[in-house]
Amino acid sequence: MDNFKRTLVTTALPYANGPVHIGHLAGVYVPADIYVRYLRMKGEDVLLIGGSDEHGVPITLKAKNEGVTPQDIVDRYHGIIKKSFQEFGITFDIYSRTTTETHYKTASEFFKTLYDKGEFIEKESDQYYDEEAKQFLADRYITGTCPHCGNEGAYGDQCESCGTSLNATDLINPVSVISGSVPVVRKTKHWYLPLDKHEPFLKKWILEDHKEWKANVYGQCKSWIDQGLQPRAVSRDLDWGVPVPVDGADGKVLYVWFDAPIGYISATKELTPEWEKYWKDKETKLLHFIGKDNIVFHCIVFPSMLKAEGSFNLPENVPANEFLNLEGDKISTSRNWAVWLHEYLEDFKDQQDVLRYVLAANAPETKDNDFTWKDFQARNNNELVAILGNFVNRAIVLTHKYYDGKTPEMGSVVEDFDKQSLEEISVIVNKVQSSLDQYRFREAIKEMMNLARLGNKYLADTEPWKLIKTDEERVKTIMYVSLQITANLSVLMEPFLPFSAVKLQNMINLSDVNWSDLGKTDLLKAGHVINKPELLFAKIEDETIQTQLDKLQATKTANEAAAKTAAPAKENISFDDFTKMDIRIGTILEAEKVAKTKKLLKLLIDTGIDKRTVVSGIAEYYKPEDIIGKQVSILVNLAPRNIKGIESQGMILMGEDANGELVFVQPSKDIKAGSEVR
Ligand code: 2FM
Ligand code: ZN
Repeated sequence: MDNFKRTLVTTALPYANGPVHIGHLAGVYVPADIYVRYLRMKGEDVLLIGGSDEHGVPITLKAKNEGVTPQDIVDRYHGIIKKSFQEFGITFDIYSRTTTETHYKTASEFFKTLYDKGEFIEKESDQYYDEEAKQFLADRYITGTCPHCGNEGAYGDQCESCGTSLNATDLINPVSVISGSVPVVRKTKHWYLPLDKHEPFLKKWILEDHKEWKANVYGQCKSWIDQGLQPRAVSRDLDWGVPVPVDGADGKVLYVWFDAPIGYISATKELTPEWEKYWKDKETKLLHFIGKDNIVFHCIVFPSMLKAEGSFNLPENVPANEFLNLEGDKISTSRNWAVWLHEYLEDFKDQQDVLRYVLAANAPETKDNDFTWKDFQARNNNELVAILGNFVNRAIVLTHKYYDGKTPEMGSVVEDFDKQSLEEISVIVNKVQSSLDQYRFREAIKEMMNLARLGNKYLADTEPWKLIKTDEERVKTIMYVSLQITANLSVLMEPFLPFSAVKLQNMINLSDVNWSDLGKTDLLKAGHVINKPELLFAKIEDETIQTQLDKLQATKTANEAAAKTAAPAKENISFDDFTKMDIRIGTILEAEKVAKTKKLLKLLIDTGIDKRTVVSGIAEYYKPEDIIGKQVSILVNLAPRNIKGIESQGMILMGEDANGELVFVQPSKDIKAGSEVR
């Protein structure tokens, strides 16, 4: 293990403003959990640190929308997230949160240390201020028109329509989200971390000394450094977060990306009084497991903070993953385009390992990858069931059938193929180990499955069920070999498929095994009792997959409908254009269906000017007998049109939602027929 004595693994702290989904699991938590389980099985000293990121503007916005406090929001989601991770067997040594007292103290002290050392620069900048709400506005609190694409709902930091990053001051017609008023520009003071000052150090530390980092991580760092680093503000004008601990900083808090990574330190402090050993001792290896959107913060910003502080280790590696898409589309919390972990477990009870398997086998390690339900089904049915499950089931069933559930001794007939198969176990174990050491989890899980493949093929090739009548000695050998492969498999699969590994170990009565037992060809000694077989994995039927696909389709339809409702406004017209329309309040006097049509009603309307006939396409939404006497809005100067042989003299105004449902546009109280609408 290099020169390191222990390992500290941190995992990105998910924002506590929504539940966690498969993208989180695939990108960060499954790889990290596989890795630490592996190290623990090797008997190494390792900690897995996690927690919820509970600050930041989106949390305050969500709270505002729901009319609750930010603390209410984070309390709700911290609980949900923590439970999901527990249920999926992510073995955190601590899963903390950034609203703990320890964290406030730790983050505050960290800032103060840097401040006292003169590691920040203070700068004034122009920022929008809401005079009604009497507060500065974070970029997310401002909406306006995107100067690039004209989207009227762009945020002050980004236009989600064209993807451009913006400054709030770029927006055309900016409006405060809080009060709806037009914000004014005011000067405000903030503290900046001068990344430019740390650039020479970062250049050497990453670009020269860490050439072994994953290409996607190294490449992103290089591109940031090559562009030239700029000072970054580490404070914000906001009332939710860790207060900036210096005089004259009223109403200012630490920027969420300043305090969140310090959350790793706070959580370690909460876990153990020996926390400094894990953060400062040179013999500790620090690893950050994150997704690609977090690379700059973990490779450039946080290391600069740690370096500036002076007493902390820097990360040895940051094995960041790319993104997981879902059925060809970017996973999105706001569009509900995700497989939520808590929902998965409702639909696939006790099948955590299936998802862990699929996500690790298909992890977005080097490029973005796609999760599809068909692939999920295929990997379960063709790999977990047909290979792994099938092999161990046959090995155990045959042992019961031929040897009353007891491990036979090696027979007196041993062929080269038997010996080679036993030797192959160590070869595979070494490959898994080497892949894990290089953070190649896809490769590792594939090699692990190769041990099951080996066993499956071994039984298929040797066909003990045929030899049992003719060559009992060879069958003893075959079953002995099969059981050793099974036993090794039960250990080797543990980091990846922990629930099934325990189940299998119980079935074969194996306990107290660890990584160093792997490769042994006598893990089950002659006479060792094997319990009755249970199914490890169950086939997933087409209907089950269809249900999931239908669920996604429903989301898609709802999103499309919502997008339709929010369709951009038509081109501007002049006021004169508008006044050309003569809209009146009228009363429906008569109504009847138009024969041979599904949608049309023929109405007689008292317009206050006259009584006239109008044909309207509302029959699917209103019954004639229900609308007599109702007041409606009618465009009276629309040129008459012939509809199904009836002259329609005007048009009834209707509200139409995204699904095409129609409702009358009516006065909010009765008003004289003929009143104008303007
Ligand atoms: O991207 C995110 O979800 C952030 N909440 C990750 C923070 S990682 C760390 F710095 F805490
Ligand atoms: Zn835009």
